[in-house]
Amino acid sequence: LYKAFIFDLDGVLVDTAKYHFNAWSRLANSLGFDFTEQQNEELKGISRIDSLKKILKWGNQEVNEENELNRLANIKNTWYIEMIEKMTPDEILPGVYDFLVLSQKEGIKIALGSASKNAEIILKRTGITHFFDAIVDGNLVKKSKPDPEVFIKAQQLLKVKIQECVVFEDAQAGIDAAKAVSMKVVGIGLPSNLTGADMVTPDLENWTPDKLIAKI
Ligand code: G6P
Ligand code: MG
Repeated sequence: LYKAFIFDLDGVLVDTAKYHFNAWSRLANSLGFDFTEQQNEELKGISRIDSLKKILKWGNQEVNEENELNRLANIKNTWYIEMIEKMTPDEILPGVYDFLVLSQKEGIKIALGSASKNAEIILKRTGITHFFDAIVDGNLVKKSKPDPEVFIKAQQLLKVKIQECVVFEDAQAGIDAAKAVSMKVVGIGLPSNLTGADMVTPDLENWTPDKLIAKI
């Protein structure tokens, strides 16, 4: 029935939200304002430039010039990369490694479906690149979640049908993207933040692919 798993990256496989928060906060501070960790929740799954626009709004900053928006996004990204370059395999989220091993063993195809343009370096630093049959990241898609483009691209590259895919997501934008094309979706996190998921679990610890598939 299910032949492919498509994993979001940030918040599903690794906890990079803290690095995004750190780098965005630094940028906001340099512009003279601050934002909260709760506001940071709203940035999950959202592309770099859309995140910047939201943050600037919170700080009541008017920036419309595209060059200036790109300049600010690049500054943040330089700080972000400094941090993710130091990541290690210890930072893979609980249960993820074993779940990938079991999925691969059972012949399930594995793809990445992430908005991040830094996906490759994160997979490399944490040592999980080899699990992926297809990697679709922010460099390959034009429309960001909740548009389903990223998951459709992954499904096509894996050469499976939409109804054979299961998406793993920690962000509402990602759940909405999967549901826009009626893909099954496992929410990682709290049910209150993940409306519409077929099931929700705090993490992948103690799950086998079979046990999980039986629940959706
Ligand atoms: C993921 C994260 C977002 C981030 C986006 C783009 O979706 O959840 O917080 O803004 O990727 O990441 P990037 O690494 O390209 O800045
Ligand atoms: Mg995510």
